[in-house]
Amino acid sequence: MANDILEGNPPLRAVPRQSVPSGGLVDAVEGTLADFLTAQVVSLDPVDPALGHFARTTRDLVLRGGKRLRPTFAYWGWRGVAGPDQPVEPILPALAALEMMHTFALVHDDVMDRSDTRRGAPTAHRVFAAQHRADQRRGDPDHFGSTSAILVGDLCLIWADQLLARTPLSTATLFAVRGCYDRMRVEAVAGQYLDVLGESRPDAWSVERALLVARHKTASYTVQRPMQFGLTLAGPSDRDEVDEAYNTYGVAVGEAFQLRDDILGVYGDPAVTGKPAGDDLRTGKPTALLMLARQLATRAQRAELDTGPAGAVIPADGSGGPLLPGPDIDVARLARIISDTGAPARVEALISDRVAEGIAALDRAPIAEDARTALTELAVTATHRPA
Ligand code: IPE
Ligand code: IPE
Ligand code: MG
Ligand code: MG
Repeated sequence: MANDILEGNPPLRAVPRQSVPSGGLVDAVEGTLADFLTAQVVSLDPVDPALGHFARTTRDLVLRGGKRLRPTFAYWGWRGVAGPDQPVEPILPALAALEMMHTFALVHDDVMDRSDTRRGAPTAHRVFAAQHRADQRRGDPDHFGSTSAILVGDLCLIWADQLLARTPLSTATLFAVRGCYDRMRVEAVAGQYLDVLGESRPDAWSVERALLVARHKTASYTVQRPMQFGLTLAGPSDRDEVDEAYNTYGVAVGEAFQLRDDILGVYGDPAVTGKPAGDDLRTGKPTALLMLARQLATRAQRAELDTGPAGAVIPADGSGGPLLPGPDIDVARLARIISDTGAPARVEALISDRVAEGIAALDRAPIAEDARTALTELAVTATHRPA
């Protein structure tokens, strides 16, 4: 019986028909997500009250805000070739699937990065740990928090698949869309592995490797593949030129997006970003920003960058030893040294180059003018954001 409930697939409430320029798009995706999530809560609630609570907590994490950039890039990727009269309603579940997959990535990322806040509120693992503590349950609250967050992320990944499966597509289109979606998911996981590997192998890292990580962990699932996902949603046809332009734009703007995230991760205002500043320094993450700082640093700055919280200089020969991470690390001091090396200005230049490259790729592409205009603006706003 319980299995029947778990496997039930209540229909989505119809989202009202509307023409959808940007703001309306986000509302429409939000409506699709909210309807889907309500149905999931309804199906889990009767199984056990604790599961209802688990599902509601997951729902709230998905609906807690965020810029909704992945559906937006996919929408414009689709609109670029779909034509102005084609209704967006049929593809809304597919666009919402990207946002659901993003929640999976964020929730697991926050466990990996040991982050306390996301979108201005406690991260999933902290929420579940706090509940464990408040109820004075048996066992380690932090372990329970991480375990629960892993399951929240898993659930979001499955729900993303379910949303995608609800998109009415021909077999050929579905095949192409799934291919793009699966490539994106593999790249995101591969990038995340390299990202955490870098924390344990800073001696083996370089600016180039940091950019490779940015491309896989972020550019792929944020811009590049969502654009191509949108393109394939428009149905099979010979659109190699557009695919190539979206690819160039997606990699360039996606990398720039992560480079901005690296800067915000050190210099951003947590009240605006909704996430902590300094986590990358605390975990010793070899971001492009930090790798550039190490490359540009004078001997004295390098010694300071490589000085642990207790004041011990880590590398004896100055040949690339690790920044010693730790909870006591003086984030403000390190941020100042990184600035003094000139690395943030270099990263700004890398961002500008990539934005220009992305926009130039679109200039030549045979796509609708409104999509070109929107994507040109998005290239700038997504990479010059305060949060
Ligand atoms: C944060 O993504 C994670 C990265 C890939 C850098 P966003 O900055 O798009 O996060 P939300 O969805 O707006 O919160
Ligand atoms: C970005 O990870 C890629 C993801 C899969 C979320 P980060 O660790 O760099 O992103 P933030 O700064 O926590 O959002
Ligand atoms: Mg991370
Ligand atoms: Mg993180």
